[in-house]
Amino acid sequence: MHTLILATRNQGKIREIRSILLGLPLEIKSLLEFPHLPEIVEDGSTFEENALKKARNIFALTRSPTLSDDSGLEVFSLRERPGVLSARYAGEHVSYDANNKKLLAELKGFPVDQRRAQFRCVAAFVGDEIEKIVEGVCHGTIIDEPRGSGGFGYDPIFIPDGYQTTFAELPLHIKNHISHR
Ligand code: IMP
Repeated sequence: MHTLILATRNQGKIREIRSILLGLPLEIKSLLEFPHLPEIVEDGSTFEENALKKARNIFALTRSPTLSDDSGLEVFSLRERPGVLSARYAGEHVSYDANNKKLLAELKGFPVDQRRAQFRCVAAFVGDEIEKIVEGVCHGTIIDEPRGSGGFGYDPIFIPDGYQTTFAELPLHIKNHISHR
């Protein structure tokens, strides 16, 4: 059994990645199990930079194969904001709710065609003499009021294309089937 480290302390990401990788012969550990490891500063200007930085640093510290996820929401009429700033859109260490409120206030009065957005996830894998980077996107629309209690982050305000429900209203296995992750 190989050990795979998830280079994150984000509970929402951990839950989803664990479920996506279920069935593989891996012992999966997240940074929640390594409280002594430092927080990796996400100072890159792209998802790619941040994902690689997180995976390289955690691999260097643990010497165990490491998978990272840098992701966020890009609203086209806001020139791809919040983008890499998704986690701290309304400020450092704010709640998901505060980020959602800020985004909804910015989009207030925008017609549906100007509420188009995509989630983007860049995953980086770093192990002994291997580095791999992959990207996924999921297109959808931002609604004007949060709906649903599942998922995390911007899920309550995002309806993926082809559905009438937000990510936060969909069962986890369906979100995982269609999501950027
Ligand atoms: P990161 O830790 O810098 O990658 O920030 C990721 C942030 O993007 C999260 O804190 C969420 O705000 C947002 N995000 C990423 N993936 C998702 C998702 O699947 N659903 C909702 N929000 C997401």
